Amino acid sequence: MDTPRTPIRYEGPMPLDNLLIHGENLAALTALMPGIEGQVRCVWIDPPYNTGNRKAPPRGQAGYHDDRSSADWLAMMRPRLDLLRRCLRPDGSLFVQLDDNEMDALKLLLDELFGRDAFISRITVDARAPSAFSTVNRGVFKASEYLLWYARDRSQLRENPLRVPRPPDPAYRKWLVNPEDPHPAWRFTTLRKACPPGVPLERFQVEHAAQVCRLASISDTKAGRAIVEAKQRSKADPDAVLRVDREGQDPIWITRGQQLLFYDRQVSRVDGALTASRPLTNVWTDLSWEGIANEGGVRFKQGKKPERLVRRCLQLATDPGDLVLDCFLGAGTTAAVAHKMGRRWIGIEQGPQIALVRQRLERVVAGQDPTGITALEGWAGGGAFTERQHPAR
Ligand SMILES: C[S@@+](CC[C@H](N)C(=O)[O-])C[C@H]1O[C@@H](n2cnc3c(N)ncnc32)[C@H](O)[C@@H]1O
Repeated sequence: MDTPRTPIRYEGPMPLDNLLIHGENLAALTALMPGIEGQVRCVWIDPPYNTGNRKAPPRGQAGYHDDRSSADWLAMMRPRLDLLRRCLRPDGSLFVQLDDNEMDALKLLLDELFGRDAFISRITVDARAPSAFSTVNRGVFKASEYLLWYARDRSQLRENPLRVPRPPDPAYRKWLVNPEDPHPAWRFTTLRKACPPGVPLERFQVEHAAQVCRLASISDTKAGRAIVEAKQRSKADPDAVLRVDREGQDPIWITRGQQLLFYDRQVSRVDGALTASRPLTNVWTDLSWEGIANEGGVRFKQGKKPERLVRRCLQLATDPGDLVLDCFLGAGTTAAVAHKMGRRWIGIEQGPQIALVRQRLERVVAGQDPTGITALEGWAGGGAFTERQHPAR
């Protein structure tokens, strides 16, 4: 296992950009506090889950002991979370990744420290597929892990809404032939007839979503009066297309006594690809954990997380240039992801896995890490990081 090649001195105020600290996080956070209080846009942490794993790794090898009483585990987390809360900007967020072991206890602790009102979401992540070995356990197979998301101040939280791909919707099978004409002259055929031979129907549907539509019933009790009146008029003249204008909103189109819905409302670019999409929910089943053993070119069996998982949290809760902090850095996933996304970062890790983090980040900076979110972010290398030992040796 590597040791730092040059002795690193930890000296008072330091640049906060891209700072890797080898040290115990409570002591390091306390020392950093004058510089980082109120500066961090997002804390993303993945602390030991308290799994009951007693095997301490052989001396000098990456890994950690993970067996405490629940009370001890909470006593360990409390002062760290208190400091992490103080690090956050008023518009900032905290994400904590856990499994069932301490999830409910942590929720109560965070409600106490941040306030119940600051709770934003409990996200369930599909973390593993059942294997023959693990299905011998009692009950149903445990596939889930969780992220608890808290705001520093709910009223000031700034988040970026996200959409995720969804399967094409076969209900949208009408085609508006002449969208350039005024709406009373609109004519329709089927999507299938409009799709040129040899072009996959689903691709055509997405690429021409502004002409693809379907009819949906209008509720007499839930729709506004102007819309219900237009519905009645439309029934008397079913082929006409009527338009109902609404202040500050898109118009409503009505024909055959039904509302005409256009597919372009459900199509967007996700990671550069035009796709049918839906708003992100608090159940994440689309982030594969397959193949993460090789991410970043470092092996860390105890708890390494997919780069795409951290990326999604940072997409939701940060913007380029923001400061991201992870004080349970493990193999360095948060730092690598933040770097590739153009965020500034601080990472703290006490174990010998710091050597893995250093190797990983050196590759990221050099543009020599083709794994993880590199292609999604179009990352080609750049930037730099500083390493410190705390306390200085
Ligand atoms: C679950 S791992 C994090 C894995 C990481 N998210 C990744 O993707 O590689 C938790 C890490 O927290 C570190 N850790 C635990 N207690 C710590 C402390 N008091 N100070 C600094 N690091 C600590 C452990 O050494 C371990 O590497």
